[in-house]
Amino acid sequence: MNRRDFIKSFLSLISLSLLGKTGSDYSLAARAENQSFNLKIPARNKWLSSLGNGSNYFGFLAIGDMGTGWATEYELIKLMALNSPQYFPSVILLGDLIYPSAKANLIEPNLIKPFSPLLDKGHRFYPILGNHDNLESKGKYIKEYFEIPEYYTFSLGPVQFWALNSNELNAQQMNWLNLSAQKSQAKWKIALLHHSPYSSGSVHKNNNHMIKTLCPSLKKYNFDLCLSGHNHLYERIGMVPEAGNCRFIVSGGGSASLHKFEQKVYFDRQAVNSCHHYLRIWGNQTQMAVEAVNLQGKVFDQAILRKA
Ligand SMILES: [Fe+2]
Repeated sequence: MNRRDFIKSFLSLISLSLLGKTGSDYSLAARAENQSFNLKIPARNKWLSSLGNGSNYFGFLAIGDMGTGWATEYELIKLMALNSPQYFPSVILLGDLIYPSAKANLIEPNLIKPFSPLLDKGHRFYPILGNHDNLESKGKYIKEYFEIPEYYTFSLGPVQFWALNSNELNAQQMNWLNLSAQKSQAKWKIALLHHSPYSSGSVHKNNNHMIKTLCPSLKKYNFDLCLSGHNHLYERIGMVPEAGNCRFIVSGGGSASLHKFEQKVYFDRQAVNSCHHYLRIWGNQTQMAVEAVNLQGKVFDQAILRKA
């Protein structure tokens, strides 16, 4: 997305609102151009605890369940690389980075080679572990390659992220999450995990363990958004009683074979699409724009989250 398209797209999103409030920041895109993010290409994509910290603007791309090495993975990444690293300096990988399991010899063909258009442009990568990644020594080779711990937190401008390992969402990890979320002064809070707490996908439905374990913390510490994958589809879910104001987006359509939807749902399902796609998310202190982009490069779902 070039500067003109970015501004046009942002202004068109201003009219959308999930909370029904009005108001906008028309200078956001212009200011974004002047941000100085740390775009130095890391030797091995080492994650940083903060990027663009202190600035008002943030922007990132996200994709889940992509690590097949198939044409769909290459095509989506090619589309993702059309977005400027200046506006979207970070790429979040929502798990299942390598199919069928994250063996050391599959990192190059299933991950590094397909992602080279984004790696070459200097985007910063923040991966989380999926169930397929976990099959091989609990994600050892992915953790080594990206130099990430099992779970971690990082900030992009006014947003703090908690990159969780949903393969083992145990008491130790939850204590860490609770303590660090309690201390957080971030304007926005986003949880990242592979297994979706909620979904009406026909293969993986609601995950009661996640709902019971994670949702009370999302509610207590005022999380705004939870991004997950595992279900090979797109699903935007509104508020659910267990999670307070936190909204959920399931984005597992990164390349692997698509899943269908169940007709019956027990939560506020706002948008669904069983298609290959990636996410483009950006905003400032008071609003966050979400766009889902399909294999044709078309935006098929848009939403804005707002806060005072
Ligand atoms: Fe998965």
